[in-house]
Amino acid sequence: MSEKNHNNQKRVLTGITTSGIPHLGNLAGAILPAIEASKEKSVSSFLFLADYHSLIKNINPELTHTSSFEIAACWLACGLNPEQVTFYRQSDVPHIFELTWILNCMAAKGLMNRAHAYKAAVAENNNAVDPDKGITMGLYNYPILMAADILMFKADIVPVGQDQKQHIEMTRDIANRFNHYYGDILSVPEAMIDEEKGVLPGIDGRKMSKSYGNTIPIFDTSKKLRKAIMKIKTNSLEPGVPKDSANCSIFKIFQVFGNSDDTLNLNKKYQNGIAWGEAKEELFELLNEKITPFRSEYEKIIQDKSYVEKTLKEGADKALNISTPLIEEIRKAVGIREFK
Ligand code: TRP
Repeated sequence: MSEKNHNNQKRVLTGITTSGIPHLGNLAGAILPAIEASKEKSVSSFLFLADYHSLIKNINPELTHTSSFEIAACWLACGLNPEQVTFYRQSDVPHIFELTWILNCMAAKGLMNRAHAYKAAVAENNNAVDPDKGITMGLYNYPILMAADILMFKADIVPVGQDQKQHIEMTRDIANRFNHYYGDILSVPEAMIDEEKGVLPGIDGRKMSKSYGNTIPIFDTSKKLRKAIMKIKTNSLEPGVPKDSANCSIFKIFQVFGNSDDTLNLNKKYQNGIAWGEAKEELFELLNEKITPFRSEYEKIIQDKSYVEKTLKEGADKALNISTPLIEEIRKAVGIREFK
């Protein structure tokens, strides 16, 4: 239904949570694939900074502000082209919050009781007298804000990690209920679940993640990059002893960023018993070469706040061109309209 509204382009929409500076795992698993996908002609890409979502986890205003700025700068530095993508801040589109309320009135409370994030928070309270102790309505309602993010732009496809799949199902549920009561207005989106092929091991071998403290930085100095790589855990095989590349974090990371010739080459060196220090050095050389352009672009962009602001304002204009007529249609449909 919605596709014909979009010049035969599929609308692909993703929100970026504005917390913490992205690391190498985010670069490989989310940022570069999303930027690559946005270049596809058959796709119209919407990427936004989910800045109001960040208040759920963080009540430090300075951190809220700087995170949003730094994440915007990161994506621009990594090659996001704001001409090709509708790149905006959630907070610049007030219609999303208006829609959130309307959807609140469509969403079953029982459905929200089953949200994983809420259930995890209750479980952490360990059968306390009040199982909702310390849980805000922000956390509880978060799937509805996410539904509004998606439905406000009639997204066809929402690429998300496995952990977010339930939210897309909730969004579909809420959209169907709205359409049932008020007419066929909202587009029911599909989730596109990441295949985890870009998932990188961290320096301790587990999945690279900020919460494990095992990340490799992208926007730090090359000295820090080197230091992190030198810390990657290996076994204690001596130089000269053949090594198994398949189960090696150094090799796995190399493979994601290196071309096939370089990767084959390194594989041979493993068979010939490369020393771990040398393998790490090869990984450092490769990553430093790949990351340096992003890093220097980032350094430039963070000096230029007005460029970032202007880019996001232009993105907001594009977004508002879509949300304004749709919210008007929605208001009318629910009966909120002028007396005449
Ligand atoms: N909740 C998502 C996450 O934590 C971010 C997000 C907010 C999002 N709104 C969205 C993702 C809408 C996709 C669509 O990763």
